[in-house]
Order: sequence, then C-alpha cells, then structure tokens
Amino acid sequence: MPPVRYGIIGAGAIAQYMARAFTEGRDSVAVAVADVNLEAARRIAAETGATNACIYWRAVLANPAVDAVYIATPPFLHKEMTIAALQAGKHVCCEKPFVLTQADVREVMAVHATVPHLKFTCNASRFHESGVARTARELVANGKLGRLYRVHFEHVTAAAKPGAVLPAWRNDPAKNGGGISFDWGVYDLAWLAYVLGGHFRPRTVFATLDNYFPLTAERVPPCLDVDGRLAAEIICDDGLTIHWERRASEHGPDRHNIEFRGTAGGFDTCFVPMGEKPGLHFHAFEGAADLKTTTLPEATPPNWDDTMVYSIRDLSRAILEDRQPSNTLADNLRIHGLFDALLESARTRQAVTVAD
Ligand SMILES: NC(=O)c1ccc[n+]([C@@H]2O[C@H](COP(=O)([O-])OP(=O)(O)OC[C@H]3O[C@@H](n4cnc5c(N)ncnc54)[C@H](O)[C@@H]3O)[C@@H](O)[C@H]2O)c1
Repeated sequence: MPPVRYGIIGAGAIAQYMARAFTEGRDSVAVAVADVNLEAARRIAAETGATNACIYWRAVLANPAVDAVYIATPPFLHKEMTIAALQAGKHVCCEKPFVLTQADVREVMAVHATVPHLKFTCNASRFHESGVARTARELVANGKLGRLYRVHFEHVTAAAKPGAVLPAWRNDPAKNGGGISFDWGVYDLAWLAYVLGGHFRPRTVFATLDNYFPLTAERVPPCLDVDGRLAAEIICDDGLTIHWERRASEHGPDRHNIEFRGTAGGFDTCFVPMGEKPGLHFHAFEGAADLKTTTLPEATPPNWDDTMVYSIRDLSRAILEDRQPSNTLADNLRIHGLFDALLESARTRQAVTVAD
C-alpha cells in the first residue's frame, strides 16, 4: 500500500523531533510544510523531503496530494486547524494538548460526525506503546490485580531553568491552556485512560495547583504565569481512587513514580522511557508467604525516538488498516472534561463533579 502523505502545519521545536517519522521509510511521508516563519518551513521540508514549503496553513489543506495533516502549532490554534482540516477531507494528527476545553472538543466532534471516515489522533498518545504501557494494560484488563482500588501517579520534570528562553505562547494560559498540567499532564491522563480502560471513569475531583517561581523574591526568569504543579484526587465511578500529581519548576530532581494497587496484586512502574524505575514490577502475596516481586518483560523496549513518532505511526497504520488510532476524539472529550473539572476545583477549592 502506498504511504500516507502528510502536510505539516507548524515547523517549530517539536516538528524537528518528528521529522524522523516521515523519513524512516514506513507508512508516512511528508509532501508539504507550512509555517508563518518561512525559513522554519523550508528547514523542515528539507529534513523530511517535502517538496512544498509555504507560510499559509490553508494552502496545505487545499493541496490534493495531502492525505493527512500533522498539526504542530501552539495549542490555541489546534481547534481551528483541526476543524478546517476535517472539512478539507484530511485525516489529522494533532499535537498535545489537543484543545483548551471540553467545549472545544465537542465543536470538533460535531464536524467529525459529518466525516466519520476520517481518522483523528492526538499526540497525547505518545507514551501508549513505550515500555510498559501494554503490559500494564493487560494486567489491569485480565484481573491479575483483583479489584483495583488505588493508583498513585506522581511525575516531576525538570524546572524551566532561570534564563531559559521559552516561546511566548507557553507562558500565556489563553494560548497554552495551562502550564505543566497541560504540557505534560495530558500525557499522564491519556496514559492512564489507555492503561485503565473501562476503569477510567472520573466522577469527582479535588485539585490544587500553584507555581513556585513567581513566589521567589525577585521573580527569577522565566517568571511563569502558568501552573507549575497540579495535584488531584480523582474518584472514579467504580470507587477507584487516583492520586495524580504533576510538578515542574521546582528546585529538585526529576521523579517518576506510578503505583497500581488491587486486592490481589499491585505493580510499580514508570511510563517515561529511561525513567529511574525502568520496567514493571509486579507484587503479590503468595498465600501466607512474603510479598513476592516479579519484574515483567516490557512489550517494547523503552526508546525516546520511537516514543516521539508513535502517534504518526499509529495514525498511518489506522488509515491503512481502516481502524481507530489508540487515541480518539472520545478520549480527548473525557480528558478535557476532566481538566475542566480539575481547574474549576483548584479555582474554587471545592470538590467538583466531572461532566460526561
Ligand atoms: N517542544 C517540545 O518538546 C514539544 C513536545 C511535545 C509536544 N509539543 C507540542 O507541540 C506544539 C508546538 O510546540 P513547539 O514546542 O514545537 O512550539 P514552537 O513555538 O517551537 O513551534 C510552533 C510553530 O508554529 C508556528 N506557527 C504559529 N502560528 C502559525 C500559523 N498560524 N500558521 C503556521 N504556523 C504557525 C510557529 O511559527 C512555530 O514555528 C504544542 O502544542 C506543544 O505542546 C512540543
């Protein structure tokens, strides 16, 4: 089957990482690139072998040689570009965070309902196949944990260092949706939704968020006006309680820790390739014997490069095999609904019910 032909919209930092997806000779090639910065568009065109570079993203949509688009612009542009792409008959892989609110997802879904044959995915699925995700998903689905009652999910990424230069949109909640909660949190929640399957039915949340840098005496740059920490208790329909915490911008090391606990067993893991706790460690009491820990093999070896391009590979295979990608609009509806509730809870300091 011929490869899927992509138009790339947005040729900034992440597009450079993603260029490899279009040159590895599998299911995806790039034919056109658009960026308001023509030099950037030309650079990514040269890296991917695309023959067309321009400043007009709508020209990519009008190009009959384009089957699918990869949208890699700042988040506040994703909704408009996704809707226009679907209306132009293109499949879509959109960078994360997909949009800013659940209402935005609903708008996109209304358009997608008119073109249901087109495939959509969001790059929040980046970690679905990395390392342990599939093993964890199987353990949950096949009942090896018994009744799953608790998940502890804590990830801390390095601070944006004083003096670091960030694109302006990253520090603007209206353009970025949030800070670390949106930047990395969407990966966490997409991973949890993928691994937990039907257990991931958030119903009640209580959240707090804050940022550390503006609290320093001299507002050490970068003075982020978006959140640097979001912590939440998320209670699901079946009673499962998820403690989720995402932090950045603090003076301390990275930390990655995920614990699943059920009545018959539990496991510890880390969803980021090359985290400090690689692999998946399954724990269970065997009768009256001591707790036994078994390290289970990973379905795929942890590898950042594969992780980065996973969503493009997944979308292309979904198009060629006529199946759904591992992250759908329905997944994004749930995740953005959860975000709406988390942000409202943090703002009001009240528990909030998550809308369906
Ligand atoms: N940087 C990363 O490591 C990284 C990793 C994963 C995901 N992402 C996500 O990818 C998206 C882009 O992030 P980035 O870091 O590449 O940002 P960036 O600012 O480096 O690049 C964005 C690009 O979009 C272009 N652009 C802006 N408006 C445009 C328009 N109207 N038409 C065409 N091009 C336009 C800009 O000129 C810029 O080149 C964000 O949603 C981000 O969360 C980034």
